[in-house]
Amino acid sequence: MPNEKLGLIYSRINNPDLEILENRLTLWDGAEECAVFDSGMAAISTTLLEFLKPGDLLMYSLPLYGGTEHFIETVLTKYGIHVVYFKTGETHEELTEIIRNSGHAGSLKMIYIETPANPTNDLIDIECCAQLAKEFSTEKNKVLVAVDNTYFGPLWQHPLKLGADIVLYSATKYIGGHSDVIAGAVLGTKEIIKRIKPLRTFLGSMAGPWTGWLLLRSLETLKPRMETQTRNAKHVAEFLQQHTKVEKVYYLGFLDETNPTQYAIYTKQCLSAGAMVSFDIRGGEKEAFQFLNNLKLIKLAVSLGSTESLAEHPATMTHCDVPDQEKIELNISDRLIRLSVGVEHYEDLIGDLKQALDHVVVEREVFNITSKELEAV
Ligand SMILES: Cc1ncc(COP(=O)(O)O)c(C=O)c1O
Repeated sequence: MPNEKLGLIYSRINNPDLEILENRLTLWDGAEECAVFDSGMAAISTTLLEFLKPGDLLMYSLPLYGGTEHFIETVLTKYGIHVVYFKTGETHEELTEIIRNSGHAGSLKMIYIETPANPTNDLIDIECCAQLAKEFSTEKNKVLVAVDNTYFGPLWQHPLKLGADIVLYSATKYIGGHSDVIAGAVLGTKEIIKRIKPLRTFLGSMAGPWTGWLLLRSLETLKPRMETQTRNAKHVAEFLQQHTKVEKVYYLGFLDETNPTQYAIYTKQCLSAGAMVSFDIRGGEKEAFQFLNNLKLIKLAVSLGSTESLAEHPATMTHCDVPDQEKIELNISDRLIRLSVGVEHYEDLIGDLKQALDHVVVEREVFNITSKELEAV
């Protein structure tokens, strides 16, 4: 029966913990409905497979989480889906050109973006993508905008309110927050989620009741966790900014009129600077590894968003598969270190960063200064 209410028939379709969790998750994003998955990748892949068919065009942003980029470039293309990408900083006119030059403009079905982008906090204008989607939509074909909002959890950015159709999360990160669960979520209108849930049932990619229970526990502390992490990140970024062995800090709280395009996006769509801070250490891979190997409190690991602070080296860890030329263009150099700031006392975090930086031996040529000046470092 078309309007028959689905009962709790079988846990691969739905289960009580998942239903309660999905209802609660809709609140932050102002979504009509939500579907929870057994990983962020399950949420992303199921959504892409549901809305794209052979011959369609997908445009995506770079940098993108490596797993998503791999899925798009090697799996979707295998099924005859056309893909094009754009980089942060490209204007509405340039994006229009990329779509037109793809040779498949009439088949554009989805614009998929990740903002802030991992690992350099680059921002993409969600409203601009929504406008572009509108311009390429026809009566028969609505172009969808999907936003991976993982870097901001559901607190600091609400893509659906800015014109996106779909918002996605790796709930493994801020939503879970304790590094003890793998999960994902998709949010949107009733119509969107009604399309996604049947494919989730048949791929079997929904989260089980135990994951649902763990995430319900996590939601109770989501706001205080993220607020503390965000406050800590500001202290950490300010410490790094003034350190002589640090060349550049990628932290949204430092954006200002000197970078008018990124600053304009920041002020209109971000509710906070978040708790992800990346920086270029002076030197290269050797200095970056010396720093990482000497951390004591902050752990060397690739995840993000949980209560404990983590550090990693994107060029050889999370983004090792990115082609060399693309790494250069995206600022993913050997000097880049990414920090996910946790809930520890910020003075302990700064103490750990300071002692690890003290262990880094900087060659004079790196600074391009005299030995006397070097002694002062
Ligand atoms: C931005 C982003 N999206 C998606 C994912 C995939 O999530 P999961 O590991 O839960 O499958 C990750 C994982 O690191 C991520 O960082």
